[in-house]
Amino acid sequence: MTLPLSHPALSATDPELAALVGAEEQLQADTLRLIPSENYVSQAVLEASGTVLQNKYSEGYAGRRYYEGQQNIDQIELLAVARAKSLFGVDHANVQPYSGSPANLAVYLAFAEPGDTVMGMALPMGGHLTHGWGVSATGKWFRGVQYGVRHDTGLVDFDEVRELALKERPKVIFCGGTALPRTIDFAAFAEIAREAGAVLVADVAHIAGLIAGGAHPSPVPHVDVVSTTTHKTLRGPRGAMLMSREEHAKAIDKAVFPGLQGGPHNQTTAGIAVALHEASQPSFRDYAAQVVANAKALAGELLARGFDLVSGGTDNHLILMDLTSRDVPGKVAAKALDRAGIVVNYNTVPYDTRKPFDPSGIRIGTPSLTSRGLGVEHMAAVAAWIERGVTAAGKGDEDELTAIRAEVADLMTAYPAPGLTT
Ligand SMILES: Cc1ncc(COP(=O)(O)O)c(C=O)c1O
Repeated sequence: MTLPLSHPALSATDPELAALVGAEEQLQADTLRLIPSENYVSQAVLEASGTVLQNKYSEGYAGRRYYEGQQNIDQIELLAVARAKSLFGVDHANVQPYSGSPANLAVYLAFAEPGDTVMGMALPMGGHLTHGWGVSATGKWFRGVQYGVRHDTGLVDFDEVRELALKERPKVIFCGGTALPRTIDFAAFAEIAREAGAVLVADVAHIAGLIAGGAHPSPVPHVDVVSTTTHKTLRGPRGAMLMSREEHAKAIDKAVFPGLQGGPHNQTTAGIAVALHEASQPSFRDYAAQVVANAKALAGELLARGFDLVSGGTDNHLILMDLTSRDVPGKVAAKALDRAGIVVNYNTVPYDTRKPFDPSGIRIGTPSLTSRGLGVEHMAAVAAWIERGVTAAGKGDEDELTAIRAEVADLMTAYPAPGLTT
């Protein structure tokens, strides 16, 4: 499929860059994107994020800015905040964090001092860098203690989490992560955080859209702070939000600005407002349910083909495949699948015996393909392509990868991507 998109001003001013954008549009249209943290935003979100709102500085918060001329910007930010509060049922929302990592840094700034103990899931177990992992500022400037998942089940061991929390007394505990295929038990974390006297943060970056759409339980009744990116299952622009109970509102706001950031990215705020509006529609509940149904169906097909999945399957949008028994390293598989038009990322699996830059697994998910309209009936074909791709990777069979790429592009042509169709 050749895309009809054009960017006349960009093409005239900078044809080199325009050509690269066009190539990326074509790539996104033709390939099967299985990276679970990616999605396709709508045309409306794209338009809102590419406006003259780019041109405005707005340090501060609505009604309390350090720059004049905020008549419209204040309303846009207030709209985004009101929509976030209503969609997630929270007292307070801050929509200014530039992305998920700075949002999490703002949480530490609000509730901890340098050198304090903080706790989160270890990166190789499925946690995020910013949950206190050593190479991150959050592990360098704080004393990060890390929990994991059980070797036998791939699930969080709450006895271990409780023991660690009571021994180490962290100021802040993060739950949630970046490679977690199972439902997060926010209530269990809340009980432990209460016992340990810690602030509990749910980082729902991956599952925010599922929560908004009713396909994953909400952390809101249980936790002090909710941190989320806006560009994954929530299907908004690249950005983030921090939400909290009223008692933490001031601390969160002060940490974001002036603590960590300068002026908010108003064009992103506008895109977030649109995404939140879209996520409050009944059709988004269908989308969230379909993401999970597709992931479960895909997991079932992969299990039937003898693949090992961490935790034995999925409850959400994400599947972590351990390729050890196929004797194909995750990176080799990911790069071969990319050549086959199937975009995944290589990933550590819990207790991985290989190095993080050359791990045993690949991480896949269904948010993007669901946005294009693929359903459970397509998951057998997707699993078959993955198996053929992994097998071809092991044998170095480039002809097979080229054949898969053509089949993938053929299917994807029939399911145009949102934002790439006008
Ligand atoms: C759970 C979680 N938290 C935070 C982040 C960081 O988000 P960003 O990449 O926008 O900094 C991610 C990104 O993958 C994530 O998965």
